Amino acid sequence: MVHKFDGPAATGFFTPQRFDAEVLDCEVDGVIPADIDGTFFRVGGEWFYPPKFADDAFLHTDGYVSSFRIRNGRVSYKGRFVRTPRFKSNLEAGRQQFGYYRNRFTDDPAVAGLDATVSNTAPLVHAGKLFTLKEDALPYQIDPVTLETIGPWNFGGAYKSQTFTAHPKIDPLTGEMITFGYEATGPASDDLFLYYVDKAGKVGREVRLKVPYVSIIHDFAVTQKHVIFPFACYTTSLERLKAGKIHWGWDKQLPSMIGILRRDGDGSDIRWFKGPERCMMHVFNAHSLGDKVILYAPFYESNFFPFFPNVDGSPWDPSKAVSHVRKLTFDLSKPGDGWEEEILFHTPISDLGKVDQRFTTLPQRYAFTNFSDPTRPFDEARAGNMRGRVSNSYGRFDLHTGALDRYFVGETHTLQECSFVPRRGSTAEGDGYLIGTASNLAEMRTELIIADAQRLSEGDIARVYLPFRAGTQVHGYWWDAEEIGTPTSQGGHSS
Ligand SMILES: [Fe+2]
Repeated sequence: MVHKFDGPAATGFFTPQRFDAEVLDCEVDGVIPADIDGTFFRVGGEWFYPPKFADDAFLHTDGYVSSFRIRNGRVSYKGRFVRTPRFKSNLEAGRQQFGYYRNRFTDDPAVAGLDATVSNTAPLVHAGKLFTLKEDALPYQIDPVTLETIGPWNFGGAYKSQTFTAHPKIDPLTGEMITFGYEATGPASDDLFLYYVDKAGKVGREVRLKVPYVSIIHDFAVTQKHVIFPFACYTTSLERLKAGKIHWGWDKQLPSMIGILRRDGDGSDIRWFKGPERCMMHVFNAHSLGDKVILYAPFYESNFFPFFPNVDGSPWDPSKAVSHVRKLTFDLSKPGDGWEEEILFHTPISDLGKVDQRFTTLPQRYAFTNFSDPTRPFDEARAGNMRGRVSNSYGRFDLHTGALDRYFVGETHTLQECSFVPRRGSTAEGDGYLIGTASNLAEMRTELIIADAQRLSEGDIARVYLPFRAGTQVHGYWWDAEEIGTPTSQGGHSS
């Protein structure tokens, strides 16, 4: 029996739908530029069955992968639950058997030893393969055309970490993928394994590191010379897990940490820098400049996640769960363990941002992300009581000049993370399109937004309508048809 669950992120627009989906030829408003040819993949999750614990983390929802295949101005859509062992076991049992987020001690005994990942965080395409990613497990390979789940991928046995980040970095100059797993040898372990995977998908070097304390290392940054690991304040231990608690607690007494090592080294040169209380989830990009490393990141003031409690028992403080575009500078020529930090824009932003991926690891000028513009209207009568919780704008944040070009999605909408689509034939940074989904809260449907990344204030150039709610997205990925290995057929109208 499926019980109705009205817990967080499971009501209204986010009410679970429990279906796989396909739309053969979507309704399009406007004209999609002819040079957009590829697939926009999204990964997110929903509670297929209600969680065992009502206060469980939304990060624990069942993974769902979806695709918008765009070609010749037309769009087909597919969506599928990721068939993880957990999903299949729950479906067979007809109920939720897994306990708190990343705490196997709270699972039903019947599922002991089964891979518990929900694979719900990010899509990745590398060496012609599509994956869904979650940082507590290996990647799950997905058929890029049908979205059927093929299974976990350990790179032919060469990838030894038990875990794999949701945010690998691909060097645009070489196609090399730099990736890592933390808690690499088991829950609460202080092992971090770093890998260099060539453009053909073959694991080359492995670097094994120890972290100063066990924490979420959700994202990292890579330059042409360095690898940068930021984390802060979230912590865990086997004792905590055995006590039946959710995986992470927030300890503001712990320093924020950023580890920097040479990309061509063996890790023995890693330097750990320390800073004040921060919540470090995502980065925009980084580059090396002589002895300096410059990191652009949307770090928060403090604990962003209300479901990961403060270990001192204090209540979650939403006024500190605010992120800004920050520039952090590390001078490796000098001793010491501090960094310079500057807030470049005082506009609070979503930390789900992107750069032009052709400039990952390189000096770059623009950051793209969504944010809530309080000067724009919100139609509460039609869209419901979401005031203060909608992300109504994309921004192009010019890190050189401080200029902000902004796109407004509409007075009944909220945006998910955008992805960048390069304009075909152009090599200039930021010359292309922003693509991403919006939740139309009034019409209860998902819309795909396509806007010119250099003319955001002019509004979108096309919208694609789905006749239903496509659900939550965490991260998206644009797979251009020009990339090697892009499938020639994608179902629907374009096959
Ligand atoms: Fe992420």
